[in-house]
Amino acid sequence: MQYHISSTPQELGQEAARAFVDLYNQAVQDRGIFTVALSGGSTPVHLYKALAQTDLDWSRVRFYFSDERTVPADHKDSNYKTAKDNFFDGVGIQPEHVFRMEGELDPQEAASRYAAVLPDQLDLCYLGMGDDGHTASLFPDTEALTASGRVVANFVPKLNTWRITFTFEEINRSRNIHILATGANKKEVLLEVKNKSGKHPIEGVENPFWYVDAAIAELL
Ligand code: 6PG
Repeated sequence: MQYHISSTPQELGQEAARAFVDLYNQAVQDRGIFTVALSGGSTPVHLYKALAQTDLDWSRVRFYFSDERTVPADHKDSNYKTAKDNFFDGVGIQPEHVFRMEGELDPQEAASRYAAVLPDQLDLCYLGMGDDGHTASLFPDTEALTASGRVVANFVPKLNTWRITFTFEEINRSRNIHILATGANKKEVLLEVKNKSGKHPIEGVENPFWYVDAAIAELL
């Protein structure tokens, strides 16, 4: 397991932003643009705040999402809204450079429409980890864990809702995968992932680099 431990979530956000800039420079040099899938949840807010303080030619970046809740773009639970409020609006990201998962549509339709707009290979895919070892919206004991294709709708019984999510096939197709995870409530799961327990969905992610804080990394 490759990881970097930061003392606080804020420091983690700055460290992850530095890595973003390095990969941005490489991708723009090689291909002219940098394609990034942002993750959901609350942890990315620390990255967003750091990126919002970063001076880059943002017109060279194309933003995607690795999963989304089945809600409209202006809903409080929207992963897109979290990125827009904490990052995009602050640095003037052009709407045409952001490819949002359409959570307000029928989930199956939203998933197939999204697969059609994805680049052949993402430069960077961000993920998080839940305290049940899920990542993106690949939850334990759900159909998407074994789904083929790039993007699927996934019913999550424990949340009693549908989600739109990248499959493992899409995640592992990315040039780089960064997982941002914080909090003592997840430390046992992280240790099991490190020990390859085979119990957690996130273990299906190949060769990620982890950005963790001291609280979650206590047992590593
Ligand atoms: C989502 C996410 C999900 C998230 C984890 C961690 O849409 O909820 O994609 O996989 O990354 O649940 O969430 P926190 O960062 O809030 O702990």
